[in-house]
Amino acid sequence: MGKLLQNFSIPLKKINFILNSYEKRNLILLSVGSVVLSLTEVFSIGIIVPIVILFSNAEKFQTGKAFKLLYQLTMARNLKEFFFILSTAAILLFIFKSAYNVFIFSKQQSIIGKIYTRLTARLMQDYLAKPYSFHLMNNSSLLFKNIVEEISRFTGSYLNPSITIMSEAIIFLGVFLFLLILYPLVTLSIVLIFGIVVISLNILLMGRIGGYSIAREEHCRQIYVTAAEALSAVKEIQMYDVEKYFTDKFSNATKGYTQSLVKFNIASNLPRPILETFIFTLFLLGMMLSVFLNKSFTDLIPMMTVVGIVCLKLLSSISKIYLNIHVLFYNANAADIVYDIISSSDLRREEISAIDPRDLNIEEKSPSLHLKRINFRYETANSPVLEDFSLIIPLNQTIAIVGKTGSGKSTLIDILMGLLEPSKGLFYYRGSVISRNNIADYRKKIGYVPQNYFLTDDSICANIAFGIYAKDIDHKRLEHAIRVSQLESFIKDLPEGINTRIGEKGIRISGGQRQRIGLARALYREPEILVLDEATSALDKHTEEDFYNAIKFPGRPLSVILVTHRLNTLEHADHIFVMEDGKLAAQGNLKELAENSPVFQKMTNQKIISEVSE
Ligand SMILES: Nc1ncnc2c1ncn2[C@@H]1O[C@H](COP(=O)(O)OP(=O)(O)O)[C@@H](O)[C@H]1O
Ligand SMILES: [Mg+2]
Repeated sequence: MGKLLQNFSIPLKKINFILNSYEKRNLILLSVGSVVLSLTEVFSIGIIVPIVILFSNAEKFQTGKAFKLLYQLTMARNLKEFFFILSTAAILLFIFKSAYNVFIFSKQQSIIGKIYTRLTARLMQDYLAKPYSFHLMNNSSLLFKNIVEEISRFTGSYLNPSITIMSEAIIFLGVFLFLLILYPLVTLSIVLIFGIVVISLNILLMGRIGGYSIAREEHCRQIYVTAAEALSAVKEIQMYDVEKYFTDKFSNATKGYTQSLVKFNIASNLPRPILETFIFTLFLLGMMLSVFLNKSFTDLIPMMTVVGIVCLKLLSSISKIYLNIHVLFYNANAADIVYDIISSSDLRREEISAIDPRDLNIEEKSPSLHLKRINFRYETANSPVLEDFSLIIPLNQTIAIVGKTGSGKSTLIDILMGLLEPSKGLFYYRGSVISRNNIADYRKKIGYVPQNYFLTDDSICANIAFGIYAKDIDHKRLEHAIRVSQLESFIKDLPEGINTRIGEKGIRISGGQRQRIGLARALYREPEILVLDEATSALDKHTEEDFYNAIKFPGRPLSVILVTHRLNTLEHADHIFVMEDGKLAAQGNLKELAENSPVFQKMTNQKIISEVSE
């Protein structure tokens, strides 16, 4: 019993948390509407039963008290008139009931639809607001699956059944009470039989449904991940001729998914035919028994009609309730997923930053980016990438970071941009500590060109003015960004100029062209700090040269922080930091390092840093 209560109180708690007060109010109104529906159900049976009895056995019926009362109420002058009045009332009631039913159903669908729209947007917003480290840990296809699949399950196959269970339970109760008063014995025995069959089926099937539900979610994950991976690696898949491997992986996942669904559908639809067979058999057995006991057929008709109607009404309610309880359980993990995401989403805003207020603004207003005794470890890694790491980067200059692959350059840059949060240490920009409170403002000052960056399936213009509505685009800034990143002649040759679409992930353009669009995107923001993580590696020597010359005189102070393996690029740097195994191994300008630093000399000897030819 306790377990049963828990089974129902947990869903309610989760629904209560996930929905906002407006949605909850609507759902409560809907339940009230369902009570009215239940009343019309009761009335419609209340009216059909006397009609049938009257029709089949008029003389006997006339002696009853209820008949007399009803007869007087209709003010009929004779039996025929009475029959017509009752039948007309029944027709009107049925029309009303059906119309009302449609009304309630469409209200329910529209409320659910609105909840779906709000929740998907909410989840998207939550995910986009999660710290970057969260996204390092989570496969984006799974997040996509949660937004698309789990919310749809939560609203369609969790919320919807909950409402149906509630309203059907009300209808069931109404009809049951009414019938209980009219025909206590028949109703009680029928409900008892229903009860026994349903409860034993439940005991048999509930555990299995839990299993199907877990299988459903697991296979659903595989479907999303495999499809996303396969479709984004088409080039590699075709080159390596491994279509079969990916197709098989995908079809295994869908097979598992469908199997769980098929099994669930069979299990949850079992009770109706079983109950029907049961009732039908009992019904006929009862008739046979009555005939055997020498009762006349005409005596049996009213009784059998009543039993028939009771069975049909209660059966329909019970099987609906039963089916929906199963649907609810099958999709309970969708509600868990949605609940977990939403309940953890405020984390970031609630968490108080771990900074000691005494550390704030103690730095003299020096024009620098200052990392002070930083520790950083990736959640999945055993050892930290940076430990007790300090660095002072002067502003309004071009700074280069060099080092072997894996020495921590990208990590350092992600920390400098406030994407990754160090577990220890402080980070100052122009003397102010950058914390969660001001990180958004700080990021606005940064233009970033990563090693691998994302181009959207949109026009060149929309990719440069990234995330900006067309009407808000500043065309002067756009032109400047295009000119500095050497895109002018490329765009001029395109059929539709800056409005040319470049395809998903920019597959319709070359690496060098992509990189220049990336540069233009960063420049469009008119950044104070321009961060280039091997961002000019796909450019030829001359284009790169022109680019660095062009950003030298931006008309405003600009700090450039660049990561590179090219000696040519280093020539543009005022100051170079050499990273080795997460530590600062040397620093200075190119001449100093080349002459005096053994670490740097080793890197050039090993061609970790090398000259590019024409
Ligand atoms: N998301 C990640 N999770 C765990 N370890 C990572 C992650 N990204 C990078 N690393 C590890 O951190 C170290 C530094 O990587 P990175 O900063 O990318 O180096 P670089 O840019 O100099 O090549 C490497 O040992 C790398 O394996
Ligand atoms: Mg890197």
